[in-house]
Amino acid sequence: MALHLSSAAPAWLAVANRGRRNRKVKAVASEGFATLKAEEEEEEKVKLGGSDLKVTKLGIGAWSWGDTSYWNNFQWDDRKMKAAKGAFDSSIDSGITLFDTAEVYGSRMSFGAINSETLLGRFIKERKEKDPETEVAVATKFAALPWRLGRQSVITALKDSLCRLGLDSVDLYQLHWPGVWGNEGYIDGLGDAVEQGLVKAVGVSNYSERRLRDAYQKLKQRGIPLASNQVNYSLIYRFPEENGVKATCDELGVTLIAYSPMAQGALTGKYTPENPPSGPRGQIYTPDFLTRLQPLLNRINEIGDSYKKTPTQVVLNWLIAQGNVVPIPGAKNAEQASEFGGALGWRLTGEEVDELRSLASDIRPVVGFPVENL
Ligand SMILES: NC(=O)c1ccc[n+]([C@@H]2O[C@H](COP(=O)([O-])OP(=O)(O)OC[C@H]3O[C@@H](n4cnc5c(N)ncnc54)[C@H](OP(=O)(O)O)[C@@H]3O)[C@@H](O)[C@H]2O)c1
Repeated sequence: MALHLSSAAPAWLAVANRGRRNRKVKAVASEGFATLKAEEEEEEKVKLGGSDLKVTKLGIGAWSWGDTSYWNNFQWDDRKMKAAKGAFDSSIDSGITLFDTAEVYGSRMSFGAINSETLLGRFIKERKEKDPETEVAVATKFAALPWRLGRQSVITALKDSLCRLGLDSVDLYQLHWPGVWGNEGYIDGLGDAVEQGLVKAVGVSNYSERRLRDAYQKLKQRGIPLASNQVNYSLIYRFPEENGVKATCDELGVTLIAYSPMAQGALTGKYTPENPPSGPRGQIYTPDFLTRLQPLLNRINEIGDSYKKTPTQVVLNWLIAQGNVVPIPGAKNAEQASEFGGALGWRLTGEEVDELRSLASDIRPVVGFPVENL
């Protein structure tokens, strides 16, 4: 059974809760039913690692926005842009306000692309014109390209990102992948960004356990917490559980931000051996792979039915159930984005979490981003 808050708590608590999306409901232990756990579950936001930044328990990934190198059948047009804007607005409407982008998403190296930061900045501006109180947390990333050396390269790239976003600062600035020549200068650059007030919190991405520990220590010496490590993590890509990254994030109090949490759409259940994804994803999620995925997808479906939840909501809930994980599913349109909120406010049981992991372990994982092993 689900630990569903509205059914576990008395009616008045549910009523009290209505319309207070951002307010913590204080519950007193002496009232018998109300536990700290309930209070914790009610909290709409989580702190990112040891930083002061609080973000929604789920974010939205903006990689596909404006991209013509991997997504969108290599084409971008006005219709896709309106759909992406719909995804942005729908997220905000459903209370999900963390957006993850990167300077390389929608890179101009790719024909017809529009930079994802530029689009996100435009969407934020348009929304704020209508509602100045709109709350948005922006996470973006520094590309550790081999010719970028030293701490100043981080500040220069960050200022360019801020310019595209039309913002004075971002909430989270991450090193997108480890540098081939080393990371000391980049980590110093992250610290400088905090001290110059250009970012609220800093993180890394695709960092191994060793690199994570080094980055954490180096920032700690300056009194700056490493907020997050963004890595590929989903039911069918559990490398962070095997390579020590998840355990180390938990030990150090660094939030694990899970990218590709729906295995790029494969775990939503909409792709089948007869209907595989097109484009580069078709090379990964082949009919053969999708055939092997079916038993897991069937069980995800059954469990979802028992909670009146979609497979997408089940797989995102599975990640949140691991603790210390903020998934950032990508959405191309309003319909996709509006589904994500349903992953929150309930919880798979421990048995279901274990059963899904066990079923998933029968499937050979797809190959990840090689930079994870740098
Ligand atoms: N740090 C890194 O190196 C790194 C790497 C990868 C991603 N990321 C970040 O993580 C974010 C998410 O990862 P991702 O985009 O790779 O994978 P994902 O979130 O697992 O999958 C996103 C795709 O699934 C499909 N989808 C989304 N919602 C759906 C729904 N409700 N129902 C059915 N299909 C749905 C959409 O594609 P279709 O409609 O075309 O199927 C969408 O583009 C990215 O946007 C990016 O911000 C970071």
